[in-house]
Amino acid sequence: MKCHSDPALAPKELVERYGDKSGFYEKVGNIRAIISIRSPLSAALEDAKEVFIYLSVVAFFVFGGIYALICYFFGKISKRDSLLTAKTAELEELNKTLEERVASEIEKRVQKEELLIQQSKMASMGEMIGAIAHQWKQPLNALSIIASDVKYAYEYNELDADYIREFSAKSDEQIRYMAKTIDDFKNFFKPDKVKTVFDPVEAVNGALALLSSQLKNNNIELSTLLPPAKTLSVYGNKNELAQVILNIANNAKDALVANVNHDRYISVLLSQEGDKIRISIEDNGGGINDELKERIFEPYMTTKEHGTGIGLYMSRVIVEEGFGGKLYVKDGAFGAVFVVELERFSEN
Ligand SMILES: Nc1ncnc2c1ncn2[C@@H]1O[C@H](COP(=O)(O)OP(=O)(O)O)[C@@H](O)[C@H]1O
Ligand SMILES: [Mg+2]
Repeated sequence: MKCHSDPALAPKELVERYGDKSGFYEKVGNIRAIISIRSPLSAALEDAKEVFIYLSVVAFFVFGGIYALICYFFGKISKRDSLLTAKTAELEELNKTLEERVASEIEKRVQKEELLIQQSKMASMGEMIGAIAHQWKQPLNALSIIASDVKYAYEYNELDADYIREFSAKSDEQIRYMAKTIDDFKNFFKPDKVKTVFDPVEAVNGALALLSSQLKNNNIELSTLLPPAKTLSVYGNKNELAQVILNIANNAKDALVANVNHDRYISVLLSQEGDKIRISIEDNGGGINDELKERIFEPYMTTKEHGTGIGLYMSRVIVEEGFGGKLYVKDGAFGAVFVVELERFSEN
């Protein structure tokens, strides 16, 4: 800015508008004045350029950063997507082979179980044949005595009508008894899988009848506490339940024969509590130690020299799968108590 200076230095338009007397060369103190401000444009431009460059650089970095971030995230997402599809494909593949593996394992299991069932039938059959042999011993002895008596009666001239009648009646009785044992046995092993509503007392009695002479021969006292016939019913296969009772009672007999010298007993109790029916089979054969208690239900687990270890495994399978029940063991006063727990059948 210049005061009282040369009009040539003032902006032309101002001089034209106000004349060259307006303060030029005049005394200090006069009010009239022209103020002209000059600012070098090039400097301003220089500044603006600097600001522009500065802003451009900042913008470049900011937008570049944002772009990089977007690319990074999109890249990550698409990478994740492709990883996901790869993993999904892998999973699908795994699923397919898993299905196949599960199917083949199930197949193997079914085969194994069928083999076990077969073996268990054979084992029970062996036990049954043993039982029949025992059941037959006594009537066979009786028949042999009756037959040899005929010879003496003939020699002593006693062979009259009365003798023949008595002979026929006595031998008939023994033969009928033997035939009944075989019928019981046959019924037991009828391969029917038919499920019916039946009285569990009948199955218990059937199984115990087959063991009766073995128990007698081994001085084992059998006591039963069963409700009157036809008061309770369960749903399932009757022979299978009888097989379970036979297995358990046979084990009790084995324990008694192995461990106890006198006062051997087996007691069978059938009780009902609400919807449950419990068949408890107790013996005084010394029981089972805790370590063995759960393992005895595993297949092939036996402590006997000629045992198969299938009886209890199969019994549990039958009770659980055939009857939806439970089979467990607990301690009695002097031995083991095996409990078969079944659902009581009711119409509704
Ligand atoms: N009443 C019992 N008292 C003592 N031990 C028993 C009794 N019942 C079963 N056990 C034990 O359980 C094992 C498995 O029984 P089981 O499956 O019937 O096979 P096995 O009779 O062929 O040995 C027996 O070897 C025996 O050790
Ligand atoms: Mg057994």
